[in-house]
Amino acid sequence: MRHDLELGYLGIEVPDPATLAPFFSEVIGLVPGEPVPEPASLTWRNDNRAHRLIVRSGPANDAGFVGFEAVDGSAFDRAVDRLRRGGYDVISGSADEAAARRVRRVASTRAPWGVMVEIVEAMETARSPFASSLVPGGFLTEGLGFGHAVFATTGLDESHAFLVNGLGFSQSDWLETEIAEGLVLEVRFYHCNARHHTVALARAPFELPQRLHHLMVETRDANDVGTAFDRAWATDLAIPMGLGLHGNDRMFSFYVASPAGFLVEVGSGARAITEPWTDNRLYESTSLWGHQPMRATA
Ligand SMILES: [Fe+2]
Repeated sequence: MRHDLELGYLGIEVPDPATLAPFFSEVIGLVPGEPVPEPASLTWRNDNRAHRLIVRSGPANDAGFVGFEAVDGSAFDRAVDRLRRGGYDVISGSADEAAARRVRRVASTRAPWGVMVEIVEAMETARSPFASSLVPGGFLTEGLGFGHAVFATTGLDESHAFLVNGLGFSQSDWLETEIAEGLVLEVRFYHCNARHHTVALARAPFELPQRLHHLMVETRDANDVGTAFDRAWATDLAIPMGLGLHGNDRMFSFYVASPAGFLVEVGSGARAITEPWTDNRLYESTSLWGHQPMRATA
């Protein structure tokens, strides 16, 4: 596996970014990132990068863009070349656009699942080192990126081709499970470094109101998942999946609904991708144990 890319950041658009501030800061345990030039935008981070989550003001109430950070300049060039050779229309960003993302270079293209994909080089480091009093063990990001993002799409086949042929990701495994009588959930998981999946895609039976199903952040210490669960439980936010263990990536985690609707998974202890990867297989259930629906939206 060539390790060229990591999940750099996720951009979310909601009518009022401030409404997500208590959720990301006080429930998930992220810390504020560096300011961005757009009015009303707020950022958060889970390590020393300037920002990992950019929440800007707008009507979409969904993910708007996702940034993949190239590990160096030649990895950036390879990623852009691969996309162009794959027939995807890649636009090179201006110096101002790169500065707004706090990167040296940015290039963008629209993913078939409807979100802008940005390839970036050299994300800036924040002025102060990362520390979260709520997540004392910190987050696992070194060589792995921010976390993972899962999108729902009616265009799963085109999206698969874009990820594999355009971005150079590899499929880790896939899930097909009946979630209701006659309703099969299909999810495909993709890696671009040792993280089991940086992106996963769920086949949507029709256009859903949100493309972003969930964002995952991984703590170094499993106890920090437990204390995050306690903080989520103390709110009235929905907890669609309580503590449990996924079968494919062996992640110990839970899922809490953000005030904007998309979920955040807080997990720990996932297994890493090793080469040669010979475990690209079907899973017929999401979890080895747990992950039961705990609480619906109040
Ligand atoms: Fe996940």
